[in-house]
Order: sequence, then structure tokens, then C-alpha cells
Amino acid sequence: MDTPIESSKTHSNDLPDRVAWLKGGSAVCNPPAKAVPAPWRLVLLGAPGVGKGTQADILCERLGACHLSTGDVLRAASKSDGCGLSPALQTALEGMRRGELVTDETILNIVGERGRCLHCSGGFVLDGFPRTVTQAEALEKLLKREEVELDAVFDYELPIDEIVARLGGRRVCPKCKAVYHTTGHPPKSEGICDKCGGALVQREDDRPEAIRTRMRVYAESTAPLLDWYGQRGLLVTVPARGTPDEIYARTWERCRTARPGILTPTGTLGGG
Ligand code: AP5
Repeated sequence: MDTPIESSKTHSNDLPDRVAWLKGGSAVCNPPAKAVPAPWRLVLLGAPGVGKGTQADILCERLGACHLSTGDVLRAASKSDGCGLSPALQTALEGMRRGELVTDETILNIVGERGRCLHCSGGFVLDGFPRTVTQAEALEKLLKREEVELDAVFDYELPIDEIVARLGGRRVCPKCKAVYHTTGHPPKSEGICDKCGGALVQREDDRPEAIRTRMRVYAESTAPLLDWYGQRGLLVTVPARGTPDEIYARTWERCRTARPGILTPTGTLGGG
């Protein structure tokens, strides 16, 4: 399938960040992403609830990169009044609530409209995309056309019972997107976001039935990407036990071994 995208290189100086990513179209980021000397371009893989979003936030904060989550784009769309949503997107959002994947075509349209985000001067962390081999092939073409290369694909791994515990306790702020956990990372006041004072909620797809569907779909559709990226020499497997900071540190330890020749943010060259 061809990625429906026009070249966006002419926009590369606009320094877009999540404002453009979440809104798409002609949205311009404000404030712009900060420029960094060596932008990192990463993909995060792993089962639903393994902690990709949590790691993406840490990576973006420390690397100056932009967090590009397709799940966040879809959730932002579902918060709109629905008038501007195409029938395809409305159907996609209904499936998402049940834990099913949105169609490749819809996702590739969403990403295609936001191609200029791939030129973010701070680099990017793709979270939740690609999720199928078709999407990975489309991303590969898109990156080639945009003359941008991935540095690594981090795959976070955790036993299923620990993942289910993470998902069951997750609470999110619909206003600022902050993520909490009822026991692992509780807010200072129960049910209230520390950052913006918003009322925390449970995601609709964190109900037990939707979690089961998401796990099945992950095994069928997304797990094959591990081989796909492994064959391209980009895959870095990271055990996702421990605190978020421990996992962040482990990510770069693993990266040094799996991606020899890469200068990590800790300033150490890989090579095993
Ligand atoms: P998406 O938003 O991408 O969700 P997901 O992949 O299911 O992942 P989650 O956001 O549930 O979990 P996470 O791994 O980010 O974990 P988190 O950091 O929050 O997608 C949602 C839906 O959108 C999909 O089901 C699909 O319908 C659709 N969609 C999106 N992209 C698509 C695509 N490309 N193609 C088709 N459909 C698409 O952490 C989870 C909890 O654990 C939190 O409470 C957190 O505080 C806690 N936690 C995190 N780290 C730790 C730690 N180290 N220790 C203890 N607790 C931790």
C-alpha cells in the first residue's frame, strides 16, 4: 500500500512538536521543539501497557525529541464533538474502544498528514506506530522519501500478568495526557492530576474485555514486527521490569550491545 503523503521537506524549519502531531493539517507547534545536536529517531514496540508511553515521555524529555503517539491522535479525535470526523474515523474509534486495531489505511492517512513531524529538529519517538507489517513497510518508504533514518527500535518486554496489573491500575489525565498508576505512580491527591488539576479517568480500552482483545491483536499483528526489524539490524530488546528510570538506563545499556557504533546519550559507543 502506498503511503498517502506529499513530501514535507519544505516544512523542516517549522520545528513542529506534539501540537502539530495531535492536530494535523496546518497546525504549527508552539513553543517549537528545542534543537539538539544529534537528534534521535526511535520506534517503541511492546505489548499494550508494557510502559511504552512512560518511556517515550522520559526519552523525549531527556533527548529533546518529539513524542509521536498514534493512540494519542485517535484519543484526541474521539474527544472532538464528532461533527468533523469522517465515517471511517468514527468506525475506527468504535473498534479502538473494543481493543481492536484501527485499519492500516486510516492510520497511514493520519501519519501521512503529519509527515513534517518526522523532521522535528529534536528527533522523534514513534509510540504505537507501526503496529503491522503493512504499516512498517509504509513507514520505511515514507522515511526513505523524507530522507530520514531510524536509529533504533526498542522492544519492551514484560510477563503478561505484570502488564495486566499495569493496565488495570492506569489512570490518565484527559486534559494534559499525564499517566498515573493507582499504586505504582499515584497522584498526590487521589483522582486529580498533579500537573494540571484535571480529573483522572480510566481509559475505555483498559476494561478487562478490551485488554484481552488488545493482547490477542498484539500477538497476531504486531509481534511479527520483531523479526521484521531484527532483520534490518535495528531491534533492541529491553526487559521492562523495575522503575521507569531503571528501564531508561537499561535501554541504553542494551542499545550499546545491539547497535554497535552508535554513540548513546550517555556518551558511550556501542560494540558489546
Ligand atoms: P496506544 O495508545 O498506542 O496503546 P497501547 O499500545 O495499547 O499501549 P498503552 O498506551 O496501553 O500502554 P503503554 O505501553 O504506553 O503503557 P503506559 O506507559 O501507559 O493505542 C490504543 C489503541 O489505538 C489501540 O488499541 C488501537 O485501537 C489504536 N491504535 C493506535 N495506534 C495504532 C496503529 N498504529 N494501528 C492500528 N491501531 C492503532 O503504562 C501503563 C501503566 O503502567 C501506567 O499506569 C503507568 O503509570 C504504569 N507503568 C509504566 N511503567 C511502569 C513501571 N516501570 N513500573 C510500574 N508501572 C509502570
